[in-house]
Amino acid sequence: MDFKMEAAKAIAAAANMNIDEIIDIIEVPADTKMGDLAFPCFKLAKTLRKAPPMIAKEIGEKIEKSNMFEKIEVVNAYVNFYVDKLKFVSGVIGEVLVKGEKYGESNVGEGKNIVIDYSSPNIAKPFHVGHLRSTVIGNALYNIYNKIGYHSISVNHLGDWGTQFGKMIVAYKLWGDKEAVERDDVKELSRIYVKYHEEAEKKPEMDDEARSWLVKMQNGDEEAISLWKWFCEISMKEFNRIYDRLGIKFDSYAGESFYNDKMDAVVEEIREKNLLKESEGAQIVDLEEYNMPPCLILRSDGGTLYPTRDISAAIYRKKEYDFAKCLYVTALDQNLHFAQWFKVVELMGYDWASDLVHIPFGLVSLQDSKLSTRKGHVVLMEDILNSAVERALNVIEEKNPDLPDKEKIAEKVGIGAVIFNDLYNSRIKNVVFDLERMINFIGETGPYVQYTYARCCSILRKTGKEKISEEIDYKIITDENSMQVCRTIGQFEQKLIDAANKNEPYIVSRYLVDLCQEFSGFYDNNRIVGSDEDTMNARAAVVYAVKTVIKSGMSILGIDCPEQM
Ligand code: ARG
Repeated sequence: MDFKMEAAKAIAAAANMNIDEIIDIIEVPADTKMGDLAFPCFKLAKTLRKAPPMIAKEIGEKIEKSNMFEKIEVVNAYVNFYVDKLKFVSGVIGEVLVKGEKYGESNVGEGKNIVIDYSSPNIAKPFHVGHLRSTVIGNALYNIYNKIGYHSISVNHLGDWGTQFGKMIVAYKLWGDKEAVERDDVKELSRIYVKYHEEAEKKPEMDDEARSWLVKMQNGDEEAISLWKWFCEISMKEFNRIYDRLGIKFDSYAGESFYNDKMDAVVEEIREKNLLKESEGAQIVDLEEYNMPPCLILRSDGGTLYPTRDISAAIYRKKEYDFAKCLYVTALDQNLHFAQWFKVVELMGYDWASDLVHIPFGLVSLQDSKLSTRKGHVVLMEDILNSAVERALNVIEEKNPDLPDKEKIAEKVGIGAVIFNDLYNSRIKNVVFDLERMINFIGETGPYVQYTYARCCSILRKTGKEKISEEIDYKIITDENSMQVCRTIGQFEQKLIDAANKNEPYIVSRYLVDLCQEFSGFYDNNRIVGSDEDTMNARAAVVYAVKTVIKSGMSILGIDCPEQM
């Protein structure tokens, strides 16, 4: 039942306009006293050459009554619509009951592919908090796009090629200890990598040796390649441990090395298109005209670079996936890199260059003194996850010591808290990692939303209404609290579309907190357990709908909700 469409039709008829011109202008008033839907007349003032309040008044006089609205009222420049409560709640709740976890899906992106490049840590280097942000944001976008009908493709563009490997090989040959690497994996690799940088400052000839190992790698030298492969395996083991805990998988793990045999042709193409210029022995694309430093394509020794691989990857992805958009989720400090090579793709004549989108995000700062001092400057991802889980377990021990499966639940709550905290603000804002605030069952946190979910489950268990009977007396849930919960539930689909349009998962996380807060108002004022059968059934249906939307919203964010906590 589409109230917005009905309102648009009524306005279109009264104003003698097209529905399409109207529908996008209709909004949901912040204050429900102003109705459930409102049509502001400001945008029509120009075409109709009349003052907005005048337009509103005329529409109000001509508009036909509809049985979907209880009242249509003109206030200043607005035409306000008050939905018929019974029709509204039965429409919303009925739809959730029928669709279950599919509720909120739409077909906005039907038939379109969207490639999302995220996480993309670097082999032999630590998986740091920036990679965590990329992983969590990318995964949420992946799910959001899927839910609105796109086919999302996740790509982990692993940093598995480049100058650092020459250095790693030199470092390993000098100080490496196979057993230590196997035991401590990336920790040990990054230890010797840091040492390399300290030593190479004093002995620049080490860099020559590193370069020669890189050349060997490029030429397929057996020893060089087998060491490189081993570094990759060691790193992937660690990365996979983190992905497993976050419940994340990728559709493609084609990293930078995947483009080794594809770059020659791309460089050739750039050259043929007369974009390549020599500068200090290197090959560049001059971007002065666009107020950017040149984009480096080939080093003076012929080696390829990060932008070369990105350009090749984009061309490959366009062929392979025919994407409607290709998103790159990385920290803000890579802005220039993306702006430069997007420009090169555009200059190469590809009109789809405008479908490449950088999705930047802000930094993470650690409030928790234990974490920031524990290991010097490198904060290990697993330490972060472990300390979140540890804290969650403490809170559970305190609040609900008899809970079965405490460890498992603490894992979900701790990890959920980290993810939710990361997704609660506009991406570009810096994230503060403050365990005490994040892992709180009240406040705007992941555990609060999970807790509300667990409460819904418990209510349904107590009423024995885990299956809601189809016969619902909807009149019972037309009170203001129930209406407010239903209004919010009814916005789920649109919120997901908004989140995709802005590439902002916080639209979903904030929505879920709103829903939980409204649920709380509903629950405080509406007795469920111990009411008469019809009342219990109707209110349980609201609880069921809230539970369903929380579950699917949280799983879109990449967070699991335990049934009890
Ligand atoms: N490996 C890079 C880093 O750790 C991120 C790669 C992002 N993706 C891309 N296609 N450039 O900073």
